[in-house]
Amino acid sequence: MFSTSGDFVSLKQSIGANLIFPHFDFPNISSSGPVGAMGRKLESISCKAWRMSDRVAVHVPVLLREVIQGLELQPGLRVVDGTVGAGGHSRAIASRLGDSGLLIGLDRDPMMLSLAATALPVSDRIVLKQASYVELPTVLASLGLKDVDRVLLDLGLSSDQLADSSRGFGFTSEGPLDLRFDTNQGKSAAELLATATVDELEYWLKEFGEESESHRIARYLAGRAKSNPIVTGMDLANGIADCLGIKRREPGDKHPATRVFQALRIAANEELEHVKRGVESSLYASLSPGGLAAVISFHSLEDRIVKQEFRKSDKWESLTAKPVVASHQEQRVNPRSRSAKLRVARKVG
Ligand SMILES: C[S@@+](CC[C@H](N)C(=O)[O-])C[C@H]1O[C@@H](n2cnc3c(N)ncnc32)[C@H](O)[C@@H]1O
Repeated sequence: MFSTSGDFVSLKQSIGANLIFPHFDFPNISSSGPVGAMGRKLESISCKAWRMSDRVAVHVPVLLREVIQGLELQPGLRVVDGTVGAGGHSRAIASRLGDSGLLIGLDRDPMMLSLAATALPVSDRIVLKQASYVELPTVLASLGLKDVDRVLLDLGLSSDQLADSSRGFGFTSEGPLDLRFDTNQGKSAAELLATATVDELEYWLKEFGEESESHRIARYLAGRAKSNPIVTGMDLANGIADCLGIKRREPGDKHPATRVFQALRIAANEELEHVKRGVESSLYASLSPGGLAAVISFHSLEDRIVKQEFRKSDKWESLTAKPVVASHQEQRVNPRSRSAKLRVARKVG
């Protein structure tokens, strides 16, 4: 399922939102990095067009200052943002790499890449590609690169995806309950709900959603699949509220379906498999000796994978004995940052 399916996009061609972005191939970017190598490749433009979204990004990058400090950025570095999203972190990174640096942004979600393309400056030294960070070694090889100096992973979901009702992410979404980053891969959440057993549902709810009512909700969802299948995000949200007997919520209360949405999203995207393979293998394989990895996680299972990997002293020197968390001020302004944990490590050996 980890196919390298997307095409590269150079921001050299970007002329603003809501316009057409051609796709390109950049087979040979030398690691010593002459700008011209990429510039020349741009002459041989082929490919199909990609109409840009005219959305405006709403996502606020978490732990931005801490990430920038942790990555010890300087001009000339080659940096991968493996979860580029709307480009919030990447924008700050790109501004520190000078003319000779290189920024490669990956995302599984083409909508997010179009937002990133709009947010990032026009430059030959920025490349965007639809891919999982699991595929990073293959992506680098296709660019003629052996390794890079820094990798950032900011795991999970962007606020822009949450706001995209066409994929059923929101509680009031009337779009089909899909919940995938890349709708061409795997099964949608509605398809999973239609076929999962009670045990599978309970496992997802407990493990991925940390849902205390996992058994009750799993039985409810399996029953709905037989009698009145859940089709939209709103169906799911209302159904879970009914199942739990919650008629009213006080302002500021979490929606009772929050953990269920999280569990189904993680299952539909096989997120923990990507995190495991990405963190335990692709990250190390893609960094130069002495290179730095920074990972932000939002879920205890994700953070455990990162913590255990960075403890391997033959591979990593951990630079964060404890995870870095958001300041009180950031948590107040950006509630999403409350569960964020940043770990940074240097590749050894
Ligand atoms: C928290 S957002 C990143 C936000 C970004 N740092 C910013 O400042 O705008 C996470 C992003 O990672 C993407 N994503 C999730 N899993 C991924 C994977 N395995 N490989 C690449 N991108 C992934 C999602 O589509 C989403 O856009």
